[in-house]
Amino acid sequence: MSFDPASIREDFPILASEVNGRPLVYLDNAATSQTPRQVLDASRHYYEAVNANIHRGTHHLARAATAAHEEARQAVARHLNAASSDEVIFTSGTTDGINLVANILGGELGAGDEVLISTLEHHSNIVPWQMLCERSGASLKVIPCHDDGTLDLDAFHQLLGGRTRVLALTWISNAFGTVNPVAEMTAAAKRAGARVLIDAAQAVPHLPVDVQALGADFLAFSGHKVYAPTGIGVLWGRREVLDELPPWRGGGEMIKEVRFEGTTYNDLPFKYEAGTPNIEGAIALAAALAWADAIGLDTIHRHEEQLLARAADALSGIAGVRLYGPRRRAGALSFAIEGVHHYDLGTLIDQMGVAVRTGHHCCQPLMARFGVTGTTRASVACYNTAEEIDTLASCVEKAAMMLK
Ligand code: ALA
Repeated sequence: MSFDPASIREDFPILASEVNGRPLVYLDNAATSQTPRQVLDASRHYYEAVNANIHRGTHHLARAATAAHEEARQAVARHLNAASSDEVIFTSGTTDGINLVANILGGELGAGDEVLISTLEHHSNIVPWQMLCERSGASLKVIPCHDDGTLDLDAFHQLLGGRTRVLALTWISNAFGTVNPVAEMTAAAKRAGARVLIDAAQAVPHLPVDVQALGADFLAFSGHKVYAPTGIGVLWGRREVLDELPPWRGGGEMIKEVRFEGTTYNDLPFKYEAGTPNIEGAIALAAALAWADAIGLDTIHRHEEQLLARAADALSGIAGVRLYGPRRRAGALSFAIEGVHHYDLGTLIDQMGVAVRTGHHCCQPLMARFGVTGTTRASVACYNTAEEIDTLASCVEKAAMMLK
């Protein structure tokens, strides 16, 4: 399929909106992406024709809903190149997946052990590990980053050692768009004997992901950043690792047999899916991945890289602009303008129809590392166009002159 952002935009009713009489320029995709008609149709079809609880009933709809849900799991497994769909656990999103892992690893950690994260992490890949460290007596170690927003890999290798039990690392920084060398870092952490979790919330929308090639133990992502609805996500976990770890949430579906004397637990993936899941969300997620795969993640990645390079060039021509992060970015570009508060800038360009995120981007330690309270962040998806990037730059320039 040849790539044409203009025709892709026709799949997204919301992109034809106007804000304050101006065409919407939606550049807050790292917060949430928009949803194409094909995904909306899959959600609607589910509720109009299939809706029933799954794995519980023998009637027609219960069987149809179960089959659709499990087909969605297989579609996710294919998208990730997982060895088996049993390794795909549906969650409510990345945060849920990381909390699940931080809880089931609890029994493996004690005083003297270390959990290694990086300065680039989102709060959702910091706080669950801090909570685990508080419970277990383990210590949290942090890989520093250079001034260009890339990780200090020498420091990483020095921090990695026999005490490192977990490496929890973002693939792509939601704040700066830095792409971490996750395969290389995963291999080093595995050699040191650590479990490895990759936060792929910002990677799955922008890159092809092959969990077998990556070599990590766990990978988490959210549906709503990859053209699916909110409230659905995936934790992929290597079968031999998940098989030996305990369950987390207890309830229906995650059991084999319940007696008051004790309970035996279900096999993967159901062992980690207590309660009625977000059935429609899983089906919509599969539709969203199929929609993205029809374009191709390589094609999407190349297009978005061009958009971000164009944005970097245009914004750096504006007086007082500082860009954060390395030249090679994916998904997002953060910047600040000397003498202009990010909140004021975001508010003013919103009045011109341009939607960006301002603030700390749920990365307060990263903002502290750079001595700022926040930045302005433009983040792209495959439906964004070069013209929208030019509108962003001209609106930022205009707003900066008004605010200075
Ligand atoms: N993690 C999302 C963002 O970066 C919410 O905006």
